[in-house]
Amino acid sequence: MSTEVVSTGNRADIAHPATYAAGVPYAEFARLRRDKPVSWVPEAALWRRSGEGRILSQGPGFWAVTTHEGVVAASRQPEVFSSGRQGAFLADPRTTADLEQARQLLVNMDAPQHARVRKLVTAVFTPRAIRALGDSVTAHARNLVERAVRQEECDVVADLAAELPLLVLADLLGLPREDRHLLYQWSNNLVGFDDPEYGGGDVEAYRKTFFEAFQYALSVAGERRRAPREDLMTLLATSEVDGRRLTDREFCNFWLLLVVAGNETTRHLITGSVLALVDNPMQRERLVADDTLLPSAVDELLRWVSPIMQFRRTAIVDTELCGTPIAAGDKVVLWYTSANRDAAVFEAPDELRLHRNPNPHLSFGMGPHFCLGAHLARLEARTMLRELAPHLSRFRLTGPVVRLESNFVNGVKSLPGSFTGQ
Ligand code: HEM
Repeated sequence: MSTEVVSTGNRADIAHPATYAAGVPYAEFARLRRDKPVSWVPEAALWRRSGEGRILSQGPGFWAVTTHEGVVAASRQPEVFSSGRQGAFLADPRTTADLEQARQLLVNMDAPQHARVRKLVTAVFTPRAIRALGDSVTAHARNLVERAVRQEECDVVADLAAELPLLVLADLLGLPREDRHLLYQWSNNLVGFDDPEYGGGDVEAYRKTFFEAFQYALSVAGERRRAPREDLMTLLATSEVDGRRLTDREFCNFWLLLVVAGNETTRHLITGSVLALVDNPMQRERLVADDTLLPSAVDELLRWVSPIMQFRRTAIVDTELCGTPIAAGDKVVLWYTSANRDAAVFEAPDELRLHRNPNPHLSFGMGPHFCLGAHLARLEARTMLRELAPHLSRFRLTGPVVRLESNFVNGVKSLPGSFTGQ
């Protein structure tokens, strides 16, 4: 429904969600890095469904920042390249009300509001707090792997990669584990907005998903305010920023950001890692033989997969980036997926090297919005790979890899395989 590919000659259209159904267009990103590290990209018109019927929606185009140097430079100047002006997502808010709604999300805020709200939960995500989750993450990963390897055939996405972050999130937030399927569905509808199988470009369905998720969160918040517990839901529902509690709207948005950011991304990191190891058997065998390689392997897989491919900023004054003039109001897109393959920073960037060190990848972003869940994501990926390692050499694909139509996450919807080794 959403797809209406506008031709850009022989080149892949990096802006179009449908491009990514065939994989990340690394060759086009390499060309951009070489020829014009900050280059203007027109946006294709996309069909959307809404109350008014089918509408054609077209963004104004954007500056694509594709080198490591460019992404770092823009990320370090949040006062010039704003997350709040038009939000941090590539698709522009359709109305002023949509923009106002978007600005309730941490990721779409600027200083000083951003720092005040972020402070609310930083303690939950410190390395120490995350280390304390180690045993429960291991128990979940072990159960999932044991079940998957016993099956004749499994789906790496549904049975392993999606399940681990959802179980961990349910524990962290203090939600019933069986409700994780709701979180899965909601985040698929939101992040998969452009994918015909999930959001289908349907604006009303998108809004309905927000509504349902918010109703759910508000009902849990009410329970926690009456009977507080030791969980993140209680913290969010009862904490104060600047002497006042979060409004219901702020609370719901913060909650939803954690739910979506905390499950989609790690899911795609784990799935992408399994695929990368299938494609690179020598690297896989090194990991299987030596689990001290795990920490550097996880960072290399983060670089390799770049689960979030980009975030967007808006220039608030006339400026320049890598020598290219940028006007106030222009949309600027930071392509982490391209920066992570920049040969100016990474030796042999198109080779998977699990021992790579240092590894200054930008998969968690940089600057004030640096990923809050980075320690948690690393812990989950490391744990899953450690549990999978004894079985990895027997893993084989048994069906097609189905990719998500998204220009935002490097996602896989289905990865059928078997650990039986036949
Ligand atoms: C592999 C996994 C993950 C990746 C690749 C990832 C990537 C990112 C990136 C690139 C940003 C920067 C946004 C920006 O600059 O505009 C970000 C922010 C964020 N991430 Fe993650 N993330 C991951 C896992 C998680 C997890 C597990 C959680 C929480 C449970 C989480 C919560 C957040 C939040 C709340 C923000 C917003 C921070 C802010 O705006 O201050 N992420 N993430």
